[in-house]
Amino acid sequence: MSENWSFETKQIHAGQEPDPTTGARALPIYQTTSYQFRDTQHAADLFGLAEPGNIYTRIMNPTQDTVEQRIAALEGGVGALLVASGQAATTGALTNVAEAGDHIVASASLYGGTDSLLRHSFPKLGIEVTFVAEPNDPQQWRDAVRENTKAFFGETIGNPKGDVLDLEAVGAVAREVGVPFIVDNTVATPYLLNPLKHGADTVVHSATKYLGGHGTAIAGVVVDGGTFDYGAHGDKFPGFTTPDESYHGLVFAEALGPAAYLTKLRVQYLRNVGPAIAPFNAWLLAQGLETLSLRVERHVENARRVAEWLQARDDVASVHWASLASSPYQELAQKYVPKGAGAIVTFELPGGVDAGRRFIDALELHSHVANIGDVRSLAIHPASTTHSQLTAEEQAGAGVTPGLVRLAVGLEGIDDILADLDAGFRAAK
Ligand SMILES: Cc1ncc(COP(=O)(O)O)c(C=O)c1O
Repeated sequence: MSENWSFETKQIHAGQEPDPTTGARALPIYQTTSYQFRDTQHAADLFGLAEPGNIYTRIMNPTQDTVEQRIAALEGGVGALLVASGQAATTGALTNVAEAGDHIVASASLYGGTDSLLRHSFPKLGIEVTFVAEPNDPQQWRDAVRENTKAFFGETIGNPKGDVLDLEAVGAVAREVGVPFIVDNTVATPYLLNPLKHGADTVVHSATKYLGGHGTAIAGVVVDGGTFDYGAHGDKFPGFTTPDESYHGLVFAEALGPAAYLTKLRVQYLRNVGPAIAPFNAWLLAQGLETLSLRVERHVENARRVAEWLQARDDVASVHWASLASSPYQELAQKYVPKGAGAIVTFELPGGVDAGRRFIDALELHSHVANIGDVRSLAIHPASTTHSQLTAEEQAGAGVTPGLVRLAVGLEGIDDILADLDAGFRAAK
């Protein structure tokens, strides 16, 4: 692969040569659990780290490997790790640096499932989380830091709030206090934004969404920039600076430099905990990635049309899409996502919950599902679904109001999308 290749070329070619055994040009699905050793010496060398190679698909797989290299190339990272879901990616990315007794600071504007993970599951693992109510106020991040803080976490574009995180400002505080800045770039996609170029150290995606793009596979990925030196902070990150007894006594930061984070993640999280992706799902992801730029371009074009059309209506109380001139995030959107702020458009119906439900029930072209990033246009009422576990105050922090409708604008003809929404408005009245 050439570093100078365009995004469009990398999304088709990065990480892949024709199959060395068969010449197959498209990416083969290596649907196997395990790999035959040449002899006992080969097996011993693989297990003893004397030779790299495949052992077992929970840890690595050639289909998965190509997709990892491709996503790493698209995000500009030193490498990537595919896992079973976006939730598994976030869990791994954060537990790779924070253990029981540690603390994380996170933006309050998060996907509901991530909020639950941090608010309810992490404390059970002994990891406390402080949520920053105004994520674009650097002082709030600074004020939340404790001696045991091990990471900052936020969504580059919040789902569903649609707020754009000021990556450079938050990243500067992370560097000041000596913690990695980990971001979820699912809504933006690497086509619209590369957070590693703006001060983030690690990126996670729910690859279930735009990376796969067709609503066919649950998948997650962690991409690391190799930028945070875990060995340069005394004994703050003991997982990186003391021997790993489960892995040959390796001291990750010492032995691996910029590859320390992902190697630790692969051998401790993927190997020991086990959230492996199926080779078939990795392959489905590869099919989606080949057209990522084209799809996202059209997603954004359709989202722009929908947002402008909604804004012109007098039966809509408010519209949220960060690239709209009226958005409080427009300046940040121009800086970080100049091609457009993704394809999640939310709006508030003046009639509250009842109007929201009537609206959604009247849609025919839009699918009523708990997903985003599908070729199909999707609609949902977050307060009664994705964010229903949150209190009213927590919902407000995530931008979820009672009458909010979330659209994940798809790739159908724009006139058909608008006609369907129009039917929803007639029913909501
Ligand atoms: C922004 C964001 N992050 C993470 C996730 C979780 O991903 P998954 O459903 O693949 O576990 C989602 C799912 O909706 C999401 O929207």
